[in-house]
Amino acid sequence: MQKIQRINDAIFRITLGNPLNPIDIVNTTDVECKCDFRVVENKSLFSILSNGEELAKEIGFSIENGKTSVRLISSGAHFFGFGEKMGFLDKRGVHMKMVNTDNPLHTPDLDPMYISIPFFIAVSPGKPAMGFYLNSTAFSFFDMDGDTYSFGAQDNGIEFYIIYGPSVSDVVKRFTSMVGRMPMPPAWAIGYQQSRWSYATADQALKIARKMREDGIPCDVIYLDIDYMDGYRVFTWGDGFTNPKSFVNKLKSMGFKVVTIVDPGVKKENGYDVFETGKKIKAFCKSEDEEDFVGYVWPGRCVFPDFLRADVREWWARQHKVLFDAGVDGIWNDMNEPSVVWTDKKTEEVKALLNENEVSFALLDRMKGAFVQKDYGDEIIHTDDHGEKWPHSKVRNVYALLESIATLKAFEIYKPGKRHFVLSRAGFAGIQKYSAVWTGDNSSWWEHLESEMSTSMGLGLSGVCFTGSDVGGFGGNATPELLIRWTEMGAFLPFFRNHTAIGTDSQEPWAFGEEVEKIVKRYIKLRYELFPYMYTCFYDAHKTGIPIMRPLLMYDQDDLNLYSVNDEFMVGDSILVAPVVRPNATWRSVYLPQGKWIDMRDMRIYKGKHVYKIMAPLDEIPVFVKENSMIFRTDPMNYIFDRESLTLYGDLYGQKAFAKVYEDDGETLEYNDGKYNLYEISVETNSDGYSVNFKALKHDYSGRYKKFTLSFMSWENMNLPVVKVNGKVMKSYFAQGTPRINFDLKEWSSSTKSTDER
Ligand code: GLC
Repeated sequence: MQKIQRINDAIFRITLGNPLNPIDIVNTTDVECKCDFRVVENKSLFSILSNGEELAKEIGFSIENGKTSVRLISSGAHFFGFGEKMGFLDKRGVHMKMVNTDNPLHTPDLDPMYISIPFFIAVSPGKPAMGFYLNSTAFSFFDMDGDTYSFGAQDNGIEFYIIYGPSVSDVVKRFTSMVGRMPMPPAWAIGYQQSRWSYATADQALKIARKMREDGIPCDVIYLDIDYMDGYRVFTWGDGFTNPKSFVNKLKSMGFKVVTIVDPGVKKENGYDVFETGKKIKAFCKSEDEEDFVGYVWPGRCVFPDFLRADVREWWARQHKVLFDAGVDGIWNDMNEPSVVWTDKKTEEVKALLNENEVSFALLDRMKGAFVQKDYGDEIIHTDDHGEKWPHSKVRNVYALLESIATLKAFEIYKPGKRHFVLSRAGFAGIQKYSAVWTGDNSSWWEHLESEMSTSMGLGLSGVCFTGSDVGGFGGNATPELLIRWTEMGAFLPFFRNHTAIGTDSQEPWAFGEEVEKIVKRYIKLRYELFPYMYTCFYDAHKTGIPIMRPLLMYDQDDLNLYSVNDEFMVGDSILVAPVVRPNATWRSVYLPQGKWIDMRDMRIYKGKHVYKIMAPLDEIPVFVKENSMIFRTDPMNYIFDRESLTLYGDLYGQKAFAKVYEDDGETLEYNDGKYNLYEISVETNSDGYSVNFKALKHDYSGRYKKFTLSFMSWENMNLPVVKVNGKVMKSYFAQGTPRINFDLKEWSSSTKSTDER
């Protein structure tokens, strides 16, 4: 009944009953770990031991009525991860489901959401952290009552992995080694992006782009939402875009990329090429009656590609030609839970209820189903590559993942050698290999500005690093103040896009007049300034799976206070961001973890493990740098590929630092063949100045950073410091009161290039 398998020193697999999944995304190539971690059987139940100490034990399991669950106990454990969830970060005491669902009303208790990642980390101060990955594509549930908790799936068995830490980061590293990590995205995707539902004509989109450039607001991407299509038929261009190629070229000449939305629902209409070619290969999901399943989305009656089949994925990939031929650079996969707004079956049910001649509760409830997804397509049948049939309940959670695989294929076919950019709303474990994600239809509410942090951090802990929310909020109207505060925070999110719904007021940076625009622009510019730091965080995420945006508990998992910090986050190892999330507030309280923290605005030093009242007028966001770190910046840009040569700035906060900065061409896949630069800089302070050690760990790409300026932000002496770089005395000078040195990055790189690679 119960099988325990040791995968390696750090990972065990438990199997209960006979789980059946249409796909398996796990790859357990050996992870190196010398640790004393064991899962042992004891009277047909298992215990999890580390260094002889029991971390958790099973207290029972059940397999009945097509549902399997396991119950465990681990005293004092708190639970983090679970993919995309509303509510606070720590899920101790919370019950959750994993069913990919489109529900645009994101109330605090909304569950489930668009993305399902059946993974969590159990941690408590002083104990090693452990991860649990339930390897089931079926609908699953997690009842995290407290010390005891259970999880399971709607299947006749489950398989799950128990993953050792000891740190939370170690768990994330190992988990992502199993389900995959993000590749390097195109560098432009880290820039600011502008969207709305919809810029419906070429003229409208061009007007937005021109205004960005006229006002000097950096921006890399313009999005086209559903109205660019002809009657919402996917892979078509509508009347508003008579010459898509020339439209895209105009944008390109201004340095913009275009990302177009693609929904999986294909209009069921004879003569429509996508429908006809799909029909020919029997590409669509079936109903129980063997006919194509039909559901209503934007174009009316639609059929849905069965992405479970490789030939369907290939066919879908080839449909992208019409977009890529026009020069589109990225694809936005929406409504891919899949969201089916209505069906003919529902119409029949409503008709029957109407016949009862009174407005009944049942009728209203059914009508509500048009807006809030309540059905999960039980009538949909999928077929795999071997002709085997699968119920939708086993495929739904991986539908978007499979669609993303197909979309990646489109890039491989039409943009060989180039990095892909796909943005997906729904997803499953491992979605990061194929797509960035955003948190869907939030609202212009202060509460959402706050809750987006926990949602994105939960995703990060679950392996999805490239995340963000609609800046300014999707539903409803943003106020000027909300847009400012959201942009201040958005500048630090991995994915930074302003987007809003149809019928809402404009919320582009200039929508509320000059004063607001000035502040919004300042933070968008800051985002570009911090590009070298951010990009290096992306590189780390690509290499290790460790999120870019991190909850504070990752910094010190032994500090229980950090487990409930939901409104602060770290970006990489050194930056802590504490956004203001209340209207009319000009200050907030900030809890800082152990160590010392330097306010980026005024260089004030704060001792950690304390709560502070931090002032934050409307045009300021509290950002702290961990003492003894280096923050990398670069010159102002209008868009990421704006200039061919840039200066790299390294700002030393504190007395010493050990830092790395990464650079590659930002668009091709050549970084996989070692064509990148990785510089390592360490600094020590001595009585009269600094001793700097610079090393090019890798220097195999021509690179845009030509000059390097090192600033010693914490130097308080009136005299200039003596600065030695690799033993050689450099000329230092004061600029804006801060001592600096300059050196030629190329020259130093060639002379310090090391042969050892990371
Ligand atoms: C969905 C998406 C939203 C998009 C809209 C129209 O609601 O989540 O971002 O604007 O559909 O395509």
